[in-house]
Amino acid sequence: MRIKKQSTDYQVYKILSEKQMSGEEIGKMLGITRSAVWKAVNKLRDYGLKVESTGRSYILVDKDELNPFEVADITFKRLDDHIDEVIYYETTDSTNERAKEYGKSKVLFFAESQTAGKGRLGRKWESQKGGLYFTLSLDPTLEYSELPKITLVAGLSVAEAIPKAKIKWPNDVLIRGKKVCGILSELYGEMENPMIVLGIGINVSNPIPDELKDVAASIGEFFDLSRREIFDLVLANFGKYYQRLLEGEWSDLRKKFLKKCETIGKVVKVTTSAEEIIGVAEDLSENGALIVNGREVYAGDCIHLRNFKIQ
Ligand code: BTN
Repeated sequence: MRIKKQSTDYQVYKILSEKQMSGEEIGKMLGITRSAVWKAVNKLRDYGLKVESTGRSYILVDKDELNPFEVADITFKRLDDHIDEVIYYETTDSTNERAKEYGKSKVLFFAESQTAGKGRLGRKWESQKGGLYFTLSLDPTLEYSELPKITLVAGLSVAEAIPKAKIKWPNDVLIRGKKVCGILSELYGEMENPMIVLGIGINVSNPIPDELKDVAASIGEFFDLSRREIFDLVLANFGKYYQRLLEGEWSDLRKKFLKKCETIGKVVKVTTSAEEIIGVAEDLSENGALIVNGREVYAGDCIHLRNFKIQ
């Protein structure tokens, strides 16, 4: 289902999520007829939302769970300058694939579950109902060399939204050493005009398969946070930090990232598309690369081997 920022259905939802109102009042606010309001209300009902009418007013009940319009409302509120459209699926193969197929930027793709969720390095991402699975297609106005920073900023945005969360470079978010969020960013389109496809998967209350229980967990095992709260906080952080990144304030973001990142000072094994590097993760460079044994690594899969005391 597609929800555009300017659509009447969404505008009616937005008004009713704040207070109850009559069809006439809503119509006046939006400059549409009462029957157009009535049609929009019926569409909201078709999508499973409970809108009661008392004769005088429409009342939206149960507005706290994440329904498609709530996903859109949070998205447009938090990412106003960067997203104009939300595409919501009960289930799809992978929101990253949907974003690439659509080929347009400024869209957020959201799925309740995925049948072929993709992880980094060709891995599978378990995506059963109860988690958050979404992809932002962004129009990057940054230099090519700056693009990896978007992924770092996304990891920071998730880590700051969840209590006690830490980042394993480049952007795995962990609680007590177990992964609760993964980020897969892909560059898509022509070289001169690339689009960033930024996919974020967060385990909230989805079941974790037994074979992954040693390395992964759901946030619900540690904290009582709803999907709505987490989605809202992550998007609020990302909206703020992405804007700062575009305004050239990386050095402050780098410091924030370092505060949350557990990788620095560890002996690591980093697997890139070309090689495997084992050494001490010394720092995060001004360019956003991990410095391992004096070398800059921009992307890869990282395993923490042990702590190492840097002199
Ligand atoms: C990782 O391997 O850590 C990255 C996992 C990324 C998963 C998310 S879920 C939403 C989006 N759609 C996908 O198929 N993958 C990403």
